[in-house]
Amino acid sequence: MVRHPRVDAIADEARAAIGRATSSTQLEELRVRYLGRQGTLTMLLRSLGSLPAAERPRVGAAANEVKRELEALLELRLGETREAERRLERARQRIDLTLPGRRPLPGGVHPLTRVQDEIVSIFVGLGFSVAEGPEIEDDYHNFEALNIPRDHPARDMQDTFYLSEDTLLRTQTSPVQIRTMQAQRPPVRIIVPGRVYRRDADITHSPMFHQVEGLAVDRSISMGDLKGTLELFAREMFGGRAKIRFRPSFFPFTEPSAEVDVLCFLCGGGGCRVCKQSGWLEILGSGMVHPQVLRNVGYDPEEVTGWAFGMGVERVAMLKYGIDDIRLFFENDLRFLRQFV
Ligand code: DAH
Repeated sequence: MVRHPRVDAIADEARAAIGRATSSTQLEELRVRYLGRQGTLTMLLRSLGSLPAAERPRVGAAANEVKRELEALLELRLGETREAERRLERARQRIDLTLPGRRPLPGGVHPLTRVQDEIVSIFVGLGFSVAEGPEIEDDYHNFEALNIPRDHPARDMQDTFYLSEDTLLRTQTSPVQIRTMQAQRPPVRIIVPGRVYRRDADITHSPMFHQVEGLAVDRSISMGDLKGTLELFAREMFGGRAKIRFRPSFFPFTEPSAEVDVLCFLCGGGGCRVCKQSGWLEILGSGMVHPQVLRNVGYDPEEVTGWAFGMGVERVAMLKYGIDDIRLFFENDLRFLRQFV
């Protein structure tokens, strides 16, 4: 083996450093430091030409031998450290199949939307089309055209939020009846979901709530049609055994008018806390469209007749799910909402 003190110095230093290295990254760095293009040993080999001619072969031979030795050593150590590193990485990444999974939290449809969609789809199934109108309404459509003049006491029940003398937040979805009839000739069969507003707030009233309005106008539409349609609706909505009853009532825009009750599905009519011992639950107002309302939209009451109804979505949802405080719908407490997912 050819030796030379300068080469020996480099070789000793490199062997020691390689011995101390603990990672493949460190070993790569050492390869660059000694054997890279600017590496100590490479530079020495490149400077052979500047050495005295007598020394050149010895230094050259010694340096080449050390170069091969270091290459082999690095190769060996790299193999070992890479294998150790791979083993460590595999251990780190091992998946513990016994850990409980993370459950995604799926969103859900809000109970009011759910009930509203259900009501609407029952009528869509009967051939009704969905109609909508503005929440900011004028006095004419919300009251006047529905036969509720300025001094009418029925306005008191629907005290509302006025934006100006003539514009207000609609108190009912009934103005959409007027807008639809103004825009098209009979026959009309519409179902109208929407937000309405009243100055009212307690555990069963919210200043903003939802209604669904129904309207059917055609030749020879009768109260019997109204009754049959609502009976079918009640069975679809509350189950096959649902029963309804009509009670005479008053609305300025219908004549005759009726309030419709559904047999209490909690006690089956025997009387309980939910139906306040009456056995019945009021769910909507309805009636035959007043001839004056038909005239107001340019329809001829001698030629066509119609029925209409209006139903509170919150009320139906409260009854259906046994909810006793309307504010729960609007607080967006996930503990409440999650029950409907
Ligand atoms: N608009 C009425 C209300 O808010 C509900 C109503 C009753 C609507 C009778 C109707 C109807 O279309 O015929 O109290």
